[in-house]
Amino acid sequence: MDFAAETLLCGPGTFGFGRAITGLDLDRPIGPQTAAALRALWLEHGLLVFPGLGTSPEAQLALSRCFGELEPHPIPRFRHPDHAELILLGNESGSTGPIYDFGGVATLGHIPWHTDLAFATTPNAGALLRMVRRPETGGQTGWLDTAAAYDALDDATKAEIAGLEAVYLFCAGLEDMRFNRPEGARLSPRNDAYPHFPPVANPLVWTHPDTGRKVLNLSTLNISHVIGLPAAQSEALICRLIAHATQARFCHIHQWADNDMVLWDNRRTMHMAFGHPVDQIRVVHRTTIRGTVAMGRVIDSQDAA
Ligand SMILES: [Fe+2]
Repeated sequence: MDFAAETLLCGPGTFGFGRAITGLDLDRPIGPQTAAALRALWLEHGLLVFPGLGTSPEAQLALSRCFGELEPHPIPRFRHPDHAELILLGNESGSTGPIYDFGGVATLGHIPWHTDLAFATTPNAGALLRMVRRPETGGQTGWLDTAAAYDALDDATKAEIAGLEAVYLFCAGLEDMRFNRPEGARLSPRNDAYPHFPPVANPLVWTHPDTGRKVLNLSTLNISHVIGLPAAQSEALICRLIAHATQARFCHIHQWADNDMVLWDNRRTMHMAFGHPVDQIRVVHRTTIRGTVAMGRVIDSQDAA
């Protein structure tokens, strides 16, 4: 095989989440055998880091296509002008996201632990980020393994949550979070000009469509309550599961270096953007791998109250 896969250096007691891929030559076409091997590693380990290999949009796109069909951003201004499947995330042309005061630092881009599209019925399969311009401070991204978190639950908890559904909501700002909300005062005005996303009911435990592994489906940004439980019981259960899943042993926190690329399986991970000082520039290009398997169902707004 024309690359090597090594265990990432993670925190103490780690489950060995993710792999670092080295030796891959992205200046040459990726052959079908290499693509299949990379895809198998992605599904087995949930997170692949490609240190320093993201030297061009073409390299990122060629690599991303090994993992499925790519999904352009629905809003055209976020698309790269020459590559519609590349999504531009950055503040070179000004801040586009909310700004919060964290510990006296005006911070842009802080997004707590979440799964992309958790507020929809069909999560995207994955995504791949390429670091184009690093800020001097901050800007880390964390991932955690929700399949390992499920496996590590005690049997009583596994039995308790089997078959339960939770309601997940679109979240336009940290103020809207019901759980795991970080301390931080908003410094920028609210922008609520978003489309309406109806509430969804998704299982708390989801079976991964490609691997068959069970994963804890929590998305702390979006989770509202467990259907059918009294409010206090629902809240206690969600708090307990979040405290369990967000332990350092399930996490990889990535300290970005120039041209790093990171790919994750969105169906068996949560991720978190630490954010960075608003007066520093950070530019990331992203590709999204389209999801094809529905997880849950849209419900009436009254049922989501
Ligand atoms: Fe995300």
